[in-house]
Amino acid sequence: MSRERPKVVVTRRLPEPVETRMRELFDVTLNDSDTPMETSDLRAALQTADVLVPTLNDQIDQKLLAGAGPGLKLIANYGAGVDHIDVETARSRGILVSNTPGVLTEDTADMTMALILSVPRRLREGIELMSSGEWHGWSPMAIQGHRIWGKRLGILGMGRIGQAVARRAKAFGLQIHYHNRRRLHPDIEDEFEATYWESLDQMLARVDIVSVNCPHTPATFHLLSARRLKLLKPTSYIVNTARGEVIDENALIRMLEAGDIAGAGLDVFEHEPGVNPRLKKLSNVVLLPHMASATEEGRLEMGEKVIINIKTFADGHRPPDQVVPSML
Ligand code: DGY
Repeated sequence: MSRERPKVVVTRRLPEPVETRMRELFDVTLNDSDTPMETSDLRAALQTADVLVPTLNDQIDQKLLAGAGPGLKLIANYGAGVDHIDVETARSRGILVSNTPGVLTEDTADMTMALILSVPRRLREGIELMSSGEWHGWSPMAIQGHRIWGKRLGILGMGRIGQAVARRAKAFGLQIHYHNRRRLHPDIEDEFEATYWESLDQMLARVDIVSVNCPHTPATFHLLSARRLKLLKPTSYIVNTARGEVIDENALIRMLEAGDIAGAGLDVFEHEPGVNPRLKKLSNVVLLPHMASATEEGRLEMGEKVIINIKTFADGHRPPDQVVPSML
């Protein structure tokens, strides 16, 4: 791409300083109404743009990519997860994909920790009791949760976010266990005093809280399948701030309803923005609207990363955050 001012289409509203900078640097089409793009609008954008800036709301599949115009050379995703983009097909059509890793790590880990604390300590029920006006004072038997300190946390996916969760969890007295495609360097394991489980099945049977921190890829779809969920202790909890598709949500709901698992803290869902109504009926869950990375600081930094990826590419270099299929 050799245009000085590449034609950039952004599919959602972004923070004002990000949009201003984009207007300065690029021939940009912004989405002032912030309504998610219809497939037909996306198709049109792919035909006319040099660079598309989508978000996780935009499904950029093989069919859409097949209709992309010859000018489209970069999909600069506003977000870390790229499971909504067919990266392999994009690559085969000479379209690069970049994302915004790193800048969401600490915020996502904070929210993961918040869920790890909220569910066993029954925060939601406490808040609901206060807002109902039905609280009549302290009682030894009221709203007893479960202690966090000393429990075993099993982190599924020990990348940047998993490690940031481990750092926080260790300070809360949790024992760190993890399952990852690759074992971490011994120095990092030492930092967390972490136990590596090559077998996810074996880890699940031994931990008290599971935190899902791996990306959604074909290999991790329903990694927590009905069979694997059954390996968990009935006293255990699951927290997911990664992607809903990693857990077989129906199987999880059945177990929550039956009391075969103690509770769940979910920021992400298998069929977003749809949330299974059965989940909403449960008292042992905390549900959040995919907001783990939602801080003003993080959203600005994501925008800065998108701009750097586009600018670097327009200047004839590889975008620093290029996603290659082998990373997935
Ligand atoms: C991401 O960047 O993938 C996050 O899920 C968005 O919050």
